[in-house]
Amino acid sequence: MELNQQKLETALQRNNTYLQFQLHLHKTVTSTNQILWDLLNTGAKPGCVVIAQQQTAGRGQWGRQWISSPGGLYLSVAVAPELEAINSYQLTLGSAWGIAEQLQNCGIPVGIKWPNDLVLEHRKLGGILTETKVTSGIITKAVIGVGINWANSVPETGINLQSLQQQHSKPISDLSMLAAQVLLGIESGIQCLCQEGANILISRYLNLLTNMGDIVYGSDFTGTVVGVTSKGELRVRTTSEIKSVITPEIYLQPGTISLGYRTPHKSQLHTTPENS
Ligand code: BTN
Repeated sequence: MELNQQKLETALQRNNTYLQFQLHLHKTVTSTNQILWDLLNTGAKPGCVVIAQQQTAGRGQWGRQWISSPGGLYLSVAVAPELEAINSYQLTLGSAWGIAEQLQNCGIPVGIKWPNDLVLEHRKLGGILTETKVTSGIITKAVIGVGINWANSVPETGINLQSLQQQHSKPISDLSMLAAQVLLGIESGIQCLCQEGANILISRYLNLLTNMGDIVYGSDFTGTVVGVTSKGELRVRTTSEIKSVITPEIYLQPGTISLGYRTPHKSQLHTTPENS
């Protein structure tokens, strides 16, 4: 499945006014995030986009590999938000919300699994990896990388969009149209963050979060997911006592637990990040 630059540009033309995308399309790259950093280091501007049909060294969250066989969408966008580094996770939350909302507007019921997964029918449709360059505590540049399963094969806990669309109507016709919707989604997420602020963004993110109300079992506590903080931590209201902690709510950092995919309403807490 080829990416068609003309088709992509046409799909973006009417709607892309905030980030002003400049497209760089490739067949195979190491990592679209890496290629975009290389371009930024030689003068590329925010709005620069790298899309590939295959990656040989795709990067996932928590230092994992992102398997990137042909048929998937692998895309990175450069942004320059005026954001303190401690709030960098807001870029991921904004992108997740924007993409899920955009795909929902196309009739595809995509939700979000905390913190950065796009989910469909309780399975993983895609993920987001945001990388930042920070000077004096401020983000000067950021690269938002998105991988979405389109026609590539996926593990049992994953789903690709084409298989779902075979059962239903085809709101997204091909990889180029998917790329356009993902870019417009990122744009609206970043625009929401920068113009309306983190509180409004988080409330929208929570509306699409599939984990709200999930029970989380820890080694020394049980709790219920009640939200996400503006730093991206999971807010869990505890139902059992934790040693010296008096507050009934605890904040879990991204990457410290895995909410899992097997049981949609009951999540198991692990002390090490998931390896998938
Ligand atoms: C995750 O671990 O869930 C996030 C995966 C993000 C993968 C994408 S694919 C495009 C971009 N380039 C990379 O090397 N990684 C991101």
